[in-house]
Parts: sequence; C-alpha cells; structure tokens
Amino acid sequence: MTRRAIISGTGSALPRTCVTNEELAERVDTTDEWIRERTGITMRYIAEHDELTSTLAIDASRRALEAANMQASDIDLIIVATATPDQTFPATATKVQAALGNHGCTAFDVAAVCSGFLYAMQVVDSMIRANSATNALVIGSETFSRILDWEDRTTCVLFGDGAGAVVLSAQDDAGDNTGILACQMHADGRHHDLLYVDGGPSTTKTVGKLRMKGREVFRHAVVNLAEVMRETLAQAGLSLADIDWVVPHQANARILDATARKLGLKAEQVVVTVDKHANTSAASVPLALDTAIRDGRIKRGDILVLEAMGGGFTWGACIVRY
Ligand code: ACO
Repeated sequence: MTRRAIISGTGSALPRTCVTNEELAERVDTTDEWIRERTGITMRYIAEHDELTSTLAIDASRRALEAANMQASDIDLIIVATATPDQTFPATATKVQAALGNHGCTAFDVAAVCSGFLYAMQVVDSMIRANSATNALVIGSETFSRILDWEDRTTCVLFGDGAGAVVLSAQDDAGDNTGILACQMHADGRHHDLLYVDGGPSTTKTVGKLRMKGREVFRHAVVNLAEVMRETLAQAGLSLADIDWVVPHQANARILDATARKLGLKAEQVVVTVDKHANTSAASVPLALDTAIRDGRIKRGDILVLEAMGGGFTWGACIVRY
C-alpha cells in the first residue's frame, strides 16, 4: 500500500503592522498607482522589533496544529523554510520546536528562498514515504523587511513579512489518491546575480541587503513556472483540466496572470493574496494556502498545484489532492 503525506491542518500568522502603498509613499519615492499597476500589491505587513521569523513561525504552527487537532508532541519532524533566520545558527526550526514544547524530534531549516516551502514539502514527502516521519510541521516564515534596502524603490515596495505552516501526516492510500501526488524541484545557480543578498557570514560578515534585476527575474519566472507545472502534472499522471486550484508563490500579480495565460488556466483558479501580503518569500505559498482553505475556496478532494520560484534560481511545483 502506498504511504502518502496528507495535509491535516494549516495555519498562518502576520505581523501586527500593516503598511499601505500610500503610507509607504510617505517614506519612499513611489506612488500607490505605480505599485498597484506593476505588481497588484496594495499593502504589506511589516514586523516590529519583537516580531521575529521564529515568533511568526510559532504562531502559524500553533494554528496549524489546532486545525489538525494535534499536540506538539505528535510531531516528529519540523522544517522551517526561510532566508531570514533569527540567527545564522542554530536553525530557526529548533527555536520553534522549543517554543512548542516538543523535545527531541528532527528539526532543521531549508534555504531555497521563495521556493523553500516547496523544497521542504518534497523533503517531508520523501521522509514520510520512507517511513522516517509520521507527522511533520512544514513552515515558511520570513521577515524580509530586515534585508530590504529601503533606499532602493525598485525592490523595497515588493516585499512583506509573514508565516504559513502545514501539518503533513502519513496515511496509507485507501484508493482515494489523497495527499502529495508529485513534486519536482530545480535549481540553476548560473542566475545567482539576478536575485541575491549582497552579504553573508563567509563573505562580508554582515547580513546584506536584497538585490534584484526585476525584469530578468520576471522573464525566467514565467517560463520556468509553466514548464515545471507541466512536468509535475505529467509525473502525477494528470492534465491541466484536472486542476482545481493553483496556489502560486505570490511575487507579482502580473507573473501570476502571465503564467496562468501561458498554461491556459482560468484566472479564477489562481489563489491571489499578493494584493494584501506582497511577496513574503518562503511564507507566501503556505499563507495563500491557509487563506484559501479558511475562506472555504479550497475543499477536501480538490487538486492543487503549489508552485514557486526564487533566488538561486530555484523553482518547483507540488501537486496535492487536499
Ligand atoms: N515607484 C515608482 N517608480 C519606480 C519604482 C517605484 N517603486 N521602481 C522603479 N520605478 C521606475 C524606474 O525607475 C523606471 O523609471 P525610468 O523608466 O524613468 O527609468 C520605471 O519605473 C520602470 O522600471 P523597471 O524596473 O523597468 O520596471 P518594470 O516594469 O520592469 O517593473 C518590477 C519592475 C515590478 C520589479 C518587475 O520587473 C517585476 O515584477 N519583476 C519580477 C520581480 C519579482 O517579482 N521578483 C520576485 C520573484 S522571486 C522572489 O520572490 C524572490
């Protein structure tokens, strides 16, 4: 019998402070109109000093555990996908583990920037199939506001902070084909210079700031995302007509539209939260997933495609029957 990773609960968390485009335009040389037209973003949440990547991750995890009707002690694997950890080490996952009161389970971080949550899903899927985990908490959590150059209007208007968490549980497939059906991840390090942080412990001994060539990233994103979605559908033995919802990385409404158009998907099938959350990197897919599950759009039995692309470049897609 096939052992599968099924979604047993989701949760999310946002910082207390919301910053609208108009408010941002008081501090940065930009306008609500420019941001809205180019990106679809109207607001974003920005973490205060006491709100860390770990605290957002902990809040999102508690909500996911509650939705799954589970205790922290039921969890035997915690993975945090983040590019903005609390510290260079130890892994933010170990802080989450301690705060939840789980002692002893496997806990580590995954660094694949905006694709980090998808990479973590594939790791959990493999570990559950291999009998190395039974109930896993997979979290995307970021405080990108800490690595933005607030003098660079071409990047600082695009990002926000937040966290999303999913409990994935092992279940023997009873013939209903529920859970993660296929995952495909890719990376191409030749594109390092198109999206990166200009610092790090081993280079500058500083944290650094985000740098991006937006136009080139856009071009690669549309091609890579459409390709990897097709590839993952083929792995699952499904076609585009089988998809109920696409839950994409929320980078930019125009990337979402262009990718959906390239594949021939309807705009109504795409979960969009970039307008309210902006780009929250590894948190964006689980935040969007939790939003659409809680507002009743995504229902049990629906077939979802989760997809993301980020710095590296890294990109990937996961097909799940919810
Ligand atoms: N406010 C006002 N004007 C601005 C702003 C701003 N915030 N930023 C740039 N401009 C100006 C530029 O100075 C330029 O002016 P000029 O023509 O007088 O020189 C003009 O707007 C056009 O600038 P471009 O950078 O060419 O604008 P473009 O149409 O390419 O849009 C954007 C920029 C929105 C970043 C777009 O390239 C994009 O969406 N790229 C994808 C980036 C992305 O989503 N990355 C994340 C994916 S991966 C990840 O999530 C980490």
